[in-house]
Amino acid sequence: MEKTTKPFWEDSYKRPGRIDTFGGGQPEKDVVEISGRMNPGLNALDLGCGEGRNALYLASKGFNTTAIDISISGIQKLNDLAGKNNVNIDAFVCDIREYSFNKAFDLIVCSGCLHLIKREEWQQVLKKMKDATATGGYNLVGIFTDVEPEPEDQRGLMVGLFKEGELYTHYQDWEIIETRTFSLEHQHPDGPKHKHSGNNIVARKK
Ligand SMILES: C[S@@+](CC[C@H](N)C(=O)[O-])C[C@H]1O[C@@H](n2cnc3c(N)ncnc32)[C@H](O)[C@@H]1O
Repeated sequence: MEKTTKPFWEDSYKRPGRIDTFGGGQPEKDVVEISGRMNPGLNALDLGCGEGRNALYLASKGFNTTAIDISISGIQKLNDLAGKNNVNIDAFVCDIREYSFNKAFDLIVCSGCLHLIKREEWQQVLKKMKDATATGGYNLVGIFTDVEPEPEDQRGLMVGLFKEGELYTHYQDWEIIETRTFSLEHQHPDGPKHKHSGNNIVARKK
């Protein structure tokens, strides 16, 4: 049987208080920039939201925000912080492969999550995301590619690494606002230094 490593983020999601597991707890630059162009009251969805740095920001800016993650600890922390910060978020535990996308969203964020499910599964999720986006709405997606192999201390987690540039081809029928290729080097607690390669896209539905 294939060995799956416990995701490193689970321990830090369990730590109460600050959300600093990813990006120092700050919302992503694309989220800040694109949401700043939009009217409050629109529908936003954060898929694989973790402890909610992007969802909390969007809710604080008046978006009608839904956030899902498979991690019980992540969603617990997000709900706790939403209460403490007096913002309203419909946050719940859900596998993105099972999510029903039962309304139209003006902004869908999916950051660091799709490569954690298999290729044929993320292809389905991407299609559902696109279908559930309102005309003129945005998708903000960030994924890891296989330019860098799966790190040793995360063996079995990154089952759906993208090919370089592959993400962009899924949005060819949309207006591409920005694409970026990135690489980063870092280390998780008690793990070896390792590199990641990835792609980001900001795209708008025509
Ligand atoms: C690298 S973290 C990124 C978290 C968050 N998007 C951020 O940028 O701060 C990836 C997240 O995807 C979640 N995840 C992994 N597989 C998932 C699935 N099948 N359904 C929902 N969430 C999933 C993990 O629990 C984790 O919180």
